[in-house]
Amino acid sequence: MPINPIFNPEGDDKIENRSLWFGNVTNLMQLNDVRYPWAIALYQQMREQFWIPQKLDVTQDVTDYWNLTPEERRGFDGILSYLTFLDSIQTCNIPHLKSCITAPEVALCMAEQTSQEAMHSASYQYMIESIIPAERRNEVYDFWRTDKVLFERCKFVAKLYQNYLDQPSAENYFISLVADYLLEGLYFYNGFIYMYNLASRMLMPGSADIFKLINRDELSHVRLFQRIIPEAMEVLPHSQDLVYELFDAAVSQEIKWSNHIIGNQILGITEASTEQYTKYLANSRLRAIGLEAIYPDEKFKKSPYAHLERFSDTKADGNTKANFFEAGVTSYVMSSGLTGWDEI
Ligand SMILES: [Fe+2]
Ligand SMILES: [Fe+2]
Repeated sequence: MPINPIFNPEGDDKIENRSLWFGNVTNLMQLNDVRYPWAIALYQQMREQFWIPQKLDVTQDVTDYWNLTPEERRGFDGILSYLTFLDSIQTCNIPHLKSCITAPEVALCMAEQTSQEAMHSASYQYMIESIIPAERRNEVYDFWRTDKVLFERCKFVAKLYQNYLDQPSAENYFISLVADYLLEGLYFYNGFIYMYNLASRMLMPGSADIFKLINRDELSHVRLFQRIIPEAMEVLPHSQDLVYELFDAAVSQEIKWSNHIIGNQILGITEASTEQYTKYLANSRLRAIGLEAIYPDEKFKKSPYAHLERFSDTKADGNTKANFFEAGVTSYVMSSGLTGWDEI
């Protein structure tokens, strides 16, 4: 795929000549007139979601951690390890995808996305350092080294990105886009559900507060790729069958990992509900990019965790919700402080 030059004085930024890829751009962020207005709206929303993990209180979680069952603690630790990996490779890979994007308004969203992914990794580190006792922390950071299932999972996820870097063809770029969508739209959610499950049982409320903000960010990334992938299917060489195969492989991998780290040991989660939820998500993510659901069974048309939805904070304007166990509103809108920057 052609990588954008740093600066191309011969470029043409006219909106009628803009395209997501293969445009002749100056590579300036010319945003006064845009070809894809949805990207400006999405960027605005992503900025308004700005938050800082350290502003969220996890003191209750420090006590709760020792009231978890050993299986619940293992799940909590393992999910933090896995999500640290996912956000780490996102921070690394999004700039590679962005380097070929020739619509600056879409590049803008990807720049913001990269920043959010890095901040998510910082939030996991904040949770690990604040909640998990010192003697266990290294095990969490190194879990991918010691746990074979997680290691295989990490290698599988990273490989699809690495393939494009090794062979930067348009086909591999397309696969990397789909792999990104799978990560944003499928891989996080059994982990999110796990945290909402604990919160629904009055456990680890600070972590759940952080996860619902990460969840909200991830859904804005899902929306970004739900715009990008249908465009990619118009202009980039690809095979629809391959997309279905990638989804099916991703679903099997995700179920295998979730059963390994959560299994049947957690109240309210079973191997059957994990399978149902993962396939339900895959179906809905496929439909959102104009493809067919691959799991036609009736039970995969609905989420087994609908009762936990109230714990997520995923509305576009979701900045006025209360903390799980408090009547008061604890979320905040940092963007409302924009007028105060002059004081700095
Ligand atoms: Fe993230
Ligand atoms: Fe993301």
